[in-house]
This record gives sequence, structure tokens and C-alpha cells, in this order.
Amino acid sequence: MYRTHTCGELRPEHIGKQVVLSGWVQRSRDLGGMTFIDLRDRYGITQLVFNMETNAGLCNQARKLGREFVIQIHGRVQERSNKNKKIPTGEIEIITEKIDILNTSNLPPFTIEDETDGGDELRMQYRYLDLRRNAVKKNLELRHRMAQEVRNYLSNENFLEIETPVLIKSTPEGARDFVVPSRMNEGQFYALPQSPQTFKQLLMVAGYDKYFQIVKCFRDEDLRADRQPEFTQIDCEMAFVVRDDVLNTFEGLTKHLFKTVKGIDIRESFPRLSYNEAMSTYGSDKPDIRFDMKIYELSEIVKGKNFMVFDNVAYIGGICAKACAEYSRKQLDELTNFVTKPQVGAKGLVWVKYNSDGTFKSTVDKFYSQEDLETWAKLLRAKPGDLLLILAGDKTSTLKALCELRLEMGNRLELRKKDEFKPLWVVDFPLLEWDEESRRFYAMHHPFTSPNKEDLKLLETDPGKVKADAYDLVINGVEIGGGSIRIHNEDLQKLMFKTLGFTDEEARSQFGFLMNAFRFGAPPHGGIAFGFDRLVSLFAGLDSIRDVIAFPKNNAGRDLMIDTPSVISEVQLKELSLKISIEKEKK
Ligand code: AMO
Repeated sequence: MYRTHTCGELRPEHIGKQVVLSGWVQRSRDLGGMTFIDLRDRYGITQLVFNMETNAGLCNQARKLGREFVIQIHGRVQERSNKNKKIPTGEIEIITEKIDILNTSNLPPFTIEDETDGGDELRMQYRYLDLRRNAVKKNLELRHRMAQEVRNYLSNENFLEIETPVLIKSTPEGARDFVVPSRMNEGQFYALPQSPQTFKQLLMVAGYDKYFQIVKCFRDEDLRADRQPEFTQIDCEMAFVVRDDVLNTFEGLTKHLFKTVKGIDIRESFPRLSYNEAMSTYGSDKPDIRFDMKIYELSEIVKGKNFMVFDNVAYIGGICAKACAEYSRKQLDELTNFVTKPQVGAKGLVWVKYNSDGTFKSTVDKFYSQEDLETWAKLLRAKPGDLLLILAGDKTSTLKALCELRLEMGNRLELRKKDEFKPLWVVDFPLLEWDEESRRFYAMHHPFTSPNKEDLKLLETDPGKVKADAYDLVINGVEIGGGSIRIHNEDLQKLMFKTLGFTDEEARSQFGFLMNAFRFGAPPHGGIAFGFDRLVSLFAGLDSIRDVIAFPKNNAGRDLMIDTPSVISEVQLKELSLKISIEKEKK
């Protein structure tokens, strides 16, 4: 038997007990007559004590143990004289009688502590050591709990967890596919699923009216803090539902997770905001509504005063930062630098201080009277002491820049609290997005999303105006999930593909299986997928989903630990009938 107890288990009631523990040497402290070792396992840390006077041999053996050695000890639990209130085992220690070294360890390349000295790359390379750290371990524990609660909730609601294939067919829509060559089918490829979308719809046709799966998805896209090339979805689909059935079910799941995992009881319904409202009020389809600071359009009231910056643009909008009228020149310059960064893209910043004495001071005093500025302040719901921040340009990019500025001010004013959660549904997305470069429409969600019934007529005459029966779940400015009511009728699906520029032949060769299935009694259906990694990292209060994934990839899509992607042998290439043709310099 390697152990009678774990390193996180022993308490004062165990005092006097003989125990066997196994674990890793976290650190050792040598205080002359006494040596102390912190023994660590997944469950916690227990202090071992060795006494030079009573057992010099053992004490000397203990002193030689290096960090991260794996040891087994026999000993007796005793009360600790110098109690450590910070850890659950801090009231006891083990007076050690025997040490067995189960394995030695090289000196770890970084300290295995909450505050480690290891940089990102090094920790990724030695991820198995990083995973020993409490800070990472607690994220994986949280992830496990959340997965359990997802399964509990959905199983209680009669959902069946069904696996779908990982080797599927490449399709041109959506992100780029990862592809896998087939040895048995020379020159042909599978694709890894970007999501199980078509399979879950086929399960609805098959009559499994409530499906879910906690499933890996793969997308070859540029990576960011909230994007990994392989990530996990809680993927769900339901038959015989309208939008509200889906929203209610998954609002229920979200509330269940908040309650069981975080102890937060969200009683009120999640607000619903149309896409148009979200864009015009927050400049984003994933607004952070933990704080107000709405965007208001000023275009109507600011034009015609010879201020060319405003007169020559399509859109002028602003926000009101509460109690910021005292901002210094330096702070205002910082904001100007912020909005003119290429990622934010504004040409400049107009600011107006609404001084506490009721007067105004602004960058545009030459063009606008105090009365003019007062009208602006009214429109922006400002009070004396507030600061108005105004941007101008074309509508889309100015709203985007205002969104960034709003978030930046939210950060500066500490309005984006990590322990506050504000979910909402964004609904009524446009069905299609026009792409100027390829001069064609793309599905904003995916090609299987149903248009709103009342917009069906527009699909052939004015497709850009059609709204989709699609919805996103947004929490604290993060798109946590997205879904839609689906098309379940072959003719409408064909029309959708046609609108997306597919020929009949292309639609048949790529999605014939789905349209065929629609001929065999496809029920009305709809669903949603949650980004599970994003949800866990939100619950953990983290900014990057990497920290909640056991073995993540870096921003270049590499796994630094196993060092992949990597080249494969000539033999493998030959078996797959593949030839690599990359110019030498690139290699
Ligand atoms: P969508 O593409 O919106 O919908 O994806 C659903 C959710 O998955 C998360 N997500 C990601 N998380 C981490 N890394 C990524 N690269 C990544 N891409 C997406 C987001 C997103 O909201 N089949 C549809 C769902 C449906 O219609 O039912 C789909 O995949 O949180």
C-alpha cells in the first residue's frame, strides 16, 4: 500500500495515528536540529518533521531529498506547535519514521508554486510540471465540476449524450478545416469537424429529439486569448422547438451552473437585445453590460458648425465617463493614443469636460458654444463632473472604436469586476453578411440557420435585409454560445445555398446528405453550442482559455511539449500518396 491518506486529508482528529503518505517534495527547510519537508499531492500539502536529536540518520536522509523527488513516508500524526492557518492540514504534522524514495527528480526548470518564475513558453514545454501547480490544478478541477453539472442538468432534462464522428467531410463554409489524408482512399481527405452541426441535425431527423455532447471541435483560424485550434463545445440540439424553448432550456443550464458551481443564484431572466440594438448601443454584438456607459449617436446635432471633422463624416457618436472631468492632459493624451492605435482605428478623439461648476471645456471650443456642448451632454446623459468622449467616421468602424474605448474606460474605472456576471441573449442577427472582396453573401451564423419566418419573402429579393432566427449567449463581453433554429425543409435549404452562391451541383456534392435527409420527415429543430473553455475561464476569472485546458497550443498553434506540428517520414508520405512541395527557404 502506497498510502493510507492523501496529503490533504489529515486533521487534529488523526493525532496519534500511524500513517503512510506518498507525494512530491515541495520544499524542505533545514533549521539546524530540525528539518521540515512539505509533501505535496493533488489533494494538498502535509508537513513532515525530522528531528536530528532523536533520529539523526533519517534527518540526514531527509536533508538530501531534492525538490520534486517522489517519496513514501511512514510516520505518526502529531499536533503542530507552529500552526499554519493558511492550509487545511496546518494544525498537524507527521513525525517521520521512514522514508522510501520512489523516484528522484531533476531540478525543475521553474518553481512549482502559485507565483512561479517560469515564463509562458517554458511552462508550456514542461506542461506536466505546470499542471502540478495549484493555480492550474484548480482550473482543471473547476472544469471537471462544470462538465459534471452540465451532464446532470441535461440528463435530467432528458437529453442524450451521443458521440459524433471526428473524421468527417471538408466543406468550404465557416473557418478553415484541418484535413486528414486517407491512406485507403488515395488522394482523398477527411476533415476534422469545426462543430458537429450537420450530425446533430441528422440526429433530429433520426428522432433523438434532445441531444448533447461535450465535444472537441477543430478550426484552423488565427489564434487569440479566447481561441484555440482545438476547443470544446457543449453542443446541443432539440426537435419540435421554437426559439424561446431553446433559450429557456439553456438559460436554465447557465443558471444551474452559476448556482451549483459558483453559488450565484440568478433569478431574473437574461435580458434580450436585438443585434441592431447591441451594435448601436454598445458597438458590439457581444456587449459587456456589467456597466452602463452606453453609446449615443450625435450625428444630427453636431453638424453644420464648420468643424470639418464632424461635417465630413457619416457618423458621430460618444460615451459619457462618469466623474472623469478631472482627467489630466496626460490621461486625455493616453486616451487619444488609445483610440488612434491601428487595432482601434479612430482618427482622433474629441473630449468635452463637463466641469462641476456647470461650464464646459473641450477640444472643439472654437466651433461650439457652451449651449451646444450642453445639448451634447444632455444627449449623452452627462452630469457635471463627467467627461464626454466622442469619435467620428464611418458608422461601422466608429462604433467598433467606441466599443473599444468604452471597454477601456470600463477597465480604467474598474467597472468590469471579475466576480460579477451579467449574461444576456443577443437575438435577431442578420442572416447574411456581404463580403465586398469576394462579392458574395456569407451566412453570418452558418448556412443551416433559418431565416425569420416573416422575412422569407425577402430572401430572393433583398437577402441582405433578412433576419435570422439565431441567438448568442453573451456574458461579460464574451460570446459564450451561439445557435439558431434550423432550416428543415429541402427547398428552403436549396434556396439558402443558392443565395450563398452555390451552384445546385456544389450544394448537392457538399451537403446532399443533409438535404436528402430532409426528404425523410425532418422535424422542426434548433440548438446551440456553448464554448466550454470560454465558460470555464469566465467562471475561473481568467482572461485566456489556455489556462483551463490541460494541454493547450500556443499562439502559433504549436504544442511545445510534444513539439508538434512536425514533419512526417517519407514512408508515411508515400503511403498517403502525398508529396511536399515547400520551397527550401521557407523550410
Ligand atoms: P459557433 O461557431 O458560434 O457555433 O461556436 C459556438 C461557440 O464555440 C466557441 N468557440 C470557440 N472557443 C474557443 N476557440 C475557438 N476557436 C472557438 N470558436 C468558437 C464560442 C462560440 O460561441 N454549430 C454552431 C452552433 C449551433 O448552431 O448550434 C457553432 O459551432 O464560445
